[in-house]
Amino acid sequence: MTRFVAIAAVGRHGELGLKGDMPWGHSLKKDLKFFKEQTMGHSVIMGRRTWDPFPRPLPGRENIVITRRPFQHPGVTCYTSIEEALADLEKREPDQTVYVIGGGSIYAALVDQCDELVLTEIESDFDADTWFPEFDRNAYERTVLGSQEENGFSYSHVRYVRKPE
Ligand SMILES: NC(=O)c1ccc[n+]([C@@H]2O[C@H](COP(=O)([O-])OP(=O)(O)OC[C@H]3O[C@@H](n4cnc5c(N)ncnc54)[C@H](OP(=O)(O)O)[C@@H]3O)[C@@H](O)[C@H]2O)c1
Repeated sequence: MTRFVAIAAVGRHGELGLKGDMPWGHSLKKDLKFFKEQTMGHSVIMGRRTWDPFPRPLPGRENIVITRRPFQHPGVTCYTSIEEALADLEKREPDQTVYVIGGGSIYAALVDQCDELVLTEIESDFDADTWFPEFDRNAYERTVLGSQEENGFSYSHVRYVRKPE
């Protein structure tokens, strides 16, 4: 069975993106390292707009892009709908973990499928045009993995694991 884990960095109000980038730009290098460590060796699934600025696929991970447009890129698996991606992923080897890496539309489509959310919760407000979807916080056990300061931002890595029904 495929296990879905959403991983995102969010501002105090769930801010995710602004004008195709993250509202805080690339100022959180240690967080990018954390993202790499968490996702390495697994599949990552993303929307086309999140893919757009990537210079190349994320190394060491199967890169899956969802787009309705014609799309071909070496090293990238493409699906034209979420349903097609889910159906195909379910057919694969057991016990695989797929990290849902954004952006807003893909988190919104898949958050209910996620057994786990790994959020970088930044203690700041940002201008944004994309937000992480609302989710039922009571349905998850929340664990703070660690907190740090970087470039004037305070943030925590937080794991939400869905409670058994
Ligand atoms: N803070 C974070 O951790 C984080 C993580 C990731 C992204 N972001 C930010 O989030 C923003 C991007 O998010 P977004 O919501 O605008 O875009 P997105 O989710 O990255 O991509 C949207 C695109 O994905 C495709 N798509 C989405 N749902 C689909 C479906 N059901 N069937 C087929 N294709 C589908 C469409 O591509 P086509 O138009 O090609 O058909 C759509 O335009 C950026 O600002 C980015 O920096 C932040």
